[in-house]
Amino acid sequence: VKNNKDIQIVRIKLPRSKSESYEITIGQGVLNTLGQRARQVSHAQSRRICLVSNQKVFDLYGSIAIQSLREASYEVSTFLMGEGERFKSFRTLERTIQFFSETKLERNDAVVALGGGVVGDLAGFAAAVYLRGVAFIQVPTTLLAQIDSSVGGKTAVNTGFGKNLVGAFHQPSAVLIDTDTLDTLPRRELTAGWCEAIKQGAIGSKKLFDQTVGYLSSNKTESLSSLIAAQCAFKASIVAGDEREDIRRMDSRSRRILNFGHTVAHALETATNYKRFRHGEAVGYGMLAACEIGKGLDITPPDALDSILAAIKLAGRLPQTRDLAPTEIIRLIEHDKKSVGGKIKWVFLEKLGKARIVDGSDVPSNIVQNSLRIVLGQYYL
Ligand SMILES: NC(=O)c1ccc[n+]([C@@H]2O[C@H](COP(=O)([O-])OP(=O)(O)OC[C@H]3O[C@@H](n4cnc5c(N)ncnc54)[C@H](O)[C@@H]3O)[C@@H](O)[C@H]2O)c1
Ligand SMILES: [Zn+2]
Repeated sequence: VKNNKDIQIVRIKLPRSKSESYEITIGQGVLNTLGQRARQVSHAQSRRICLVSNQKVFDLYGSIAIQSLREASYEVSTFLMGEGERFKSFRTLERTIQFFSETKLERNDAVVALGGGVVGDLAGFAAAVYLRGVAFIQVPTTLLAQIDSSVGGKTAVNTGFGKNLVGAFHQPSAVLIDTDTLDTLPRRELTAGWCEAIKQGAIGSKKLFDQTVGYLSSNKTESLSSLIAAQCAFKASIVAGDEREDIRRMDSRSRRILNFGHTVAHALETATNYKRFRHGEAVGYGMLAACEIGKGLDITPPDALDSILAAIKLAGRLPQTRDLAPTEIIRLIEHDKKSVGGKIKWVFLEKLGKARIVDGSDVPSNIVQNSLRIVLGQYYL
């Protein structure tokens, strides 16, 4: 570790299962401590680690990870999955598990996921089901994975009938976040991650929002590690209070608030066949749309919209949306609701730091239509 002064640790306590509590370690160069960390959290008899990654991430960080694991006396076998969302599939899952079996990964051994959310979700699910569950260490290397997908214990694969529809809750034994890995992350991936960070700030607290925007504007008063730690702590607090996403909950601390900006984002992704937007970029538009609709309903104060807009501009440029018809996006939102049991729940902002969940039947479609016209027409951006 390069700089001992700035290692942040977030302790995740799971109320229902103390044995599943774990720590997130965040800092520059912490990847070098992977082996030590694995020794601390894994079974005394564990000999082998299966590292799951993809070629791109492995070329950048694989040798550091393997060296650290070998120094801690692990035998390491590496499985490289294909690059991209389409490899988060049953087929890859089967291949990964077959590899675990062929390399004789045993019950007391562990899986390490080195990569973004795609690798983390797939490797986590494989670890959840192989031998009915082996230990799993997350080493997220995208901003999105570091602040969002590596916290909460959700793992999944995509299916022909929908994204993330098959998976398991499987908590990691440890999460190691090396902020240096973000140096190689493509700009659009960073923008997408920052949009999710803005989202978490917007629904979490004014303090987290200001911290995030403060880091993005050049007057940085704190380190990236402490910001990521604050983001993880927020996500963890929501998850701990609503571990398995109780669908009846409508309060401002239910897991559902994490969907702020996502109703419209999913429709935008579908409308463009998942080709135009990185998910977080679509969330950027989705948050603007939710603020605009919320403003139309007198829920969201105009200055909250202004703050979100300013933050998104700091996150980076978003792909254009002028060719997307509001009516088509509304049709897709309506369609999406059918697949999840007939009810859309919108997440709006009452103010920065406070979300409110509103039933779709209380949101007139003319307000949605007008708001989408403004946001997709890019009158703001
Ligand atoms: N489990 C959860 O709670 C949860 C939450 C949110 C999202 N997700 C899932 O996360 C996935 C998206 O994750 P993502 O945004 O990290 O995308 P990703 O995993 O596809 O990574 C984005 C790209 O960056 C590359 N990459 C990763 N780290 C890099 C690095 N340090 N330097 C250079 N390139 C790097 C990857 O190879 C890939 O090309 C989706 O499948 C989504 O469903 C899961
Ligand atoms: Zn998201």
